[in-house]
Amino acid sequence: MSTGVRLEPIGPENVDDACGLEVLPGQEKYVASVARSLADAYVHQEMAWPRVVMAGSVLVGFLMGAFPGPTQADARTCGIWRLAIGAGHQGRGYGSAAVEAFCAEARARGMRRVLVQWAPGGSGPEGFYLRLGFRPISSGPGRETTGEVLLT
Ligand SMILES: CC(C)(COP(=O)(O)OP(=O)(O)OC[C@H]1O[C@@H](n2cnc3c(N)ncnc32)[C@H](O)[C@@H]1OP(=O)(O)O)[C@@H](O)C(=O)NCCC(=O)NCCS
Repeated sequence: MSTGVRLEPIGPENVDDACGLEVLPGQEKYVASVARSLADAYVHQEMAWPRVVMAGSVLVGFLMGAFPGPTQADARTCGIWRLAIGAGHQGRGYGSAAVEAFCAEARARGMRRVLVQWAPGGSGPEGFYLRLGFRPISSGPGRETTGEVLLT
């Protein structure tokens, strides 16, 4: 499914809607709340890139990227730090479109690699990331899986 979305900054006009975003019951263990993510963004301003996922005028999700700071050794690797699509908006291609939009931003900034971490198995997002072409590069018992996709 091809669904265009925009990744927009968070400001006074949309912060309430962003913080009101809820995933499906049981998915809370896979992603922090938007409020927690915005707190993380506040204390890691040098790298955090928090954005709402907009489909037309509807806020359907939240994505926070992490771009390398000035002292980071690998200046061409970035990450998807948080991703959540609202309960009523899942399964419509918005998650994939948000990842694609993030990759476009990353490419425009000269990035060559995108990393993401996910909790393996269960009803988590592993299958979603594998479908999008992320390749597991590290994992272990009780540990999160790290996946990478190379930007062309
Ligand atoms: C994972 C998540 C972002 C997917 O968003 P979405 O908008 O529902 O995903 P899409 O509609 O773009 O799905 C794209 C494809 O992935 C598949 N997919 C989606 N979630 C999946 C899952 N949990 N397991 C396996 N496949 C999944 C879809 O079936 C679809 O496949 P298709 O292309 O063959 O039709 C969303 O379910 C979510 O917010 N989950 C809770 C938070 C979370 O786990 N975030 C990730 C933290 S690392």
